[in-house]
Amino acid sequence: MERTLMIVKPDAVAKNAIGQIIARVESEGFVVRQLRMVELSVERAGDFYAVHRERPFYGELVGFMTSGPAVPMVLERENAVAHLRGYIGPTNSNEAPAGTIRGDFGTDVQFNAVHASDSTDNAAIEIEFFFGE
Ligand code: RTP
Ligand code: MG
Repeated sequence: MERTLMIVKPDAVAKNAIGQIIARVESEGFVVRQLRMVELSVERAGDFYAVHRERPFYGELVGFMTSGPAVPMVLERENAVAHLRGYIGPTNSNEAPAGTIRGDFGTDVQFNAVHASDSTDNAAIEIEFFFGE
């Protein structure tokens, strides 16, 4: 069965929405296989989003991801990577329909409640990042 990595980001943790978000993905057929709470350092957050290093929002993104605790988890389901990306909604929470996680728990293009891996290769890398030894 396929696995992906989801992170409940600091904005959603601060809204006490961890449980609601987990309930939604479980209802959608995902099984939580691993889970933890982390407080990312600037270095770790920067490494996680290293692909965006040259983007104008990189500094703000690292600031956001280090602003409080986050909750990475490994989710398992058929077609997990693609299904979760569709299920959470588009990056910009203002454009995410009601009923999607980003539409219901996010605020804007940055404070968008959750991360989800965008490919099976990146899912493996990201699962190792948080749950490897
Ligand atoms: P993620 O990696 O967190 O799952 O989000 P994504 O694939 O939908 O979007 P991506 O382009 O990878 O952007 C990563 C995160 O950076 C923040 N962002 N800010 N200010 C901006 O214009 C902007 N654009 C993106 C968001 O938190 C986004 O999820
Ligand atoms: Mg991304």
